[in-house]
Amino acid sequence: MSVWRVKPVSAFEADMKKSDLKRVLTKWGLTSLGIGAIIGGGIFTLTGIAAHDYAGPALALAFVIAGIGCLFASLCYAEFASVLPVEGSAYAYAYGTVGELFAWFIGWNLILEYMMGATTVAVAWSGYFVKLLHLFNIEFPIYLCNDLATATEKCAAAGLATPSFAFNLPAFIITWLVTAVLVKGIKEAASTNNIIVIVKVAVVLFVIIVGAFYVNTDNWVPFIPDEVTSIGENGKETVKFGFGGVLTAATIVFFAYIGFDAVSTQAGEAINPKKDVPFAIIASLIICTILYILVSLVLTGMVKYDQLDKAAPVASAFSGIGINWAVFIITIAAVAGLTSVMLVMMLGQTRIFLGMAKDGLLPEPLFGRLHPTFKTPYRSTILVGLIISIVAALTPIDKVSEMCSMGTLLAFAMVCVAVMILRYKKPELERPYNTPAVYVVGTLGVLFNIFLMTQVRLATWKFFIIWGILGIAVYFFYSKNKSKLSNNAE
Ligand code: ALA
Repeated sequence: MSVWRVKPVSAFEADMKKSDLKRVLTKWGLTSLGIGAIIGGGIFTLTGIAAHDYAGPALALAFVIAGIGCLFASLCYAEFASVLPVEGSAYAYAYGTVGELFAWFIGWNLILEYMMGATTVAVAWSGYFVKLLHLFNIEFPIYLCNDLATATEKCAAAGLATPSFAFNLPAFIITWLVTAVLVKGIKEAASTNNIIVIVKVAVVLFVIIVGAFYVNTDNWVPFIPDEVTSIGENGKETVKFGFGGVLTAATIVFFAYIGFDAVSTQAGEAINPKKDVPFAIIASLIICTILYILVSLVLTGMVKYDQLDKAAPVASAFSGIGINWAVFIITIAAVAGLTSVMLVMMLGQTRIFLGMAKDGLLPEPLFGRLHPTFKTPYRSTILVGLIISIVAALTPIDKVSEMCSMGTLLAFAMVCVAVMILRYKKPELERPYNTPAVYVVGTLGVLFNIFLMTQVRLATWKFFIIWGILGIAVYFFYSKNKSKLSNNAE
């Protein structure tokens, strides 16, 4: 059946040779893109709720658990990236192994990862930006920096009149600024990203090194607080703390790791993709895992977990110990850091679209055409910017972040399956990087990522299923017939 048709590896190689994208990215440039995509809202924001409500000092353990799961996926991504260093990432890997419909479905879910990831981060960026302005005594009206639902909630809490209109203007504007940089070109994007990554990593190291002097080891006891079960307003049971709580925290902080796979979308722009992309995927993940575990230990050591601020835990931990100037630095770094996450996520999205357009599954004029001078897929970059800016301006953050995690988890699980299939079907392929113990690592990767998907709220599952059905409909009504494989082979 044609939905199972597989794109031959030789066709990928031919695509790579034809690529018009400029090859400018080095091994460390790619690693920097990975770190740029990884360190963001997860560590600067979500650590607060994960420690305060679910894991206590065992936040570090939650990061270890989520990190191990991502490591399985990253080892599988790395093997694929070494065999198929093309810009389509997991979509392309599935196309080369499992078949077209699966590949399409992965691509469809990657839209959730990259587009909803960038949307989440645009909203988080707006939150930090408003906080930064507040530090300079500039206040932003609530209705101009939130979506309507959030603005209504905030106005009610502040005793203000309910707004009839709200628009998250900072989220909208930052999206268009990032879009402009991306239209201009990868080189500009990569150098902007490099500077931001240096600032971001420097601030994270600052938090670890300075914070270590203020750690009170009594705050780490008990490491895993006793389990507490409560019934929420919706009548549902919520488990906090205990090992169950640590697992919930692991699903929350999983978002902090999303992004290492974005390196694989840059293969078309790497100087030596077969070696450097696998290196950068694994290196960026390992570097961030170590930083995250250390930040978690320092934070929960500086401040008792139940005193941690849920909105801005890192900055607040420093104001709590009286180092107020650090709050400025951390907030500025968070604003810059979130910008680079957006940059890489949006870049990744357009490169995945490019891969799908080259294969005929998406309209070429919109998603595949490169700018004559900048050599970037400018039309799809502008389209992606348009969608993200509107959704970010009008939607609450939690809705988009959970959709992002769902899409990512499915894509990770699928890559783990696909790498095992490719190893089985084509053991003879040249693999500059081999996943160690591939069947064990692949199986654990699948189990881990599916397990995390089961932990996501039912409401998100409903959206996820609707999104999936929509994707399959688009495939059967458009992509299946337009596929290059269909035109050539049938
Ligand atoms: N890992 C990215 C972040 O934490 C998505 O913002």
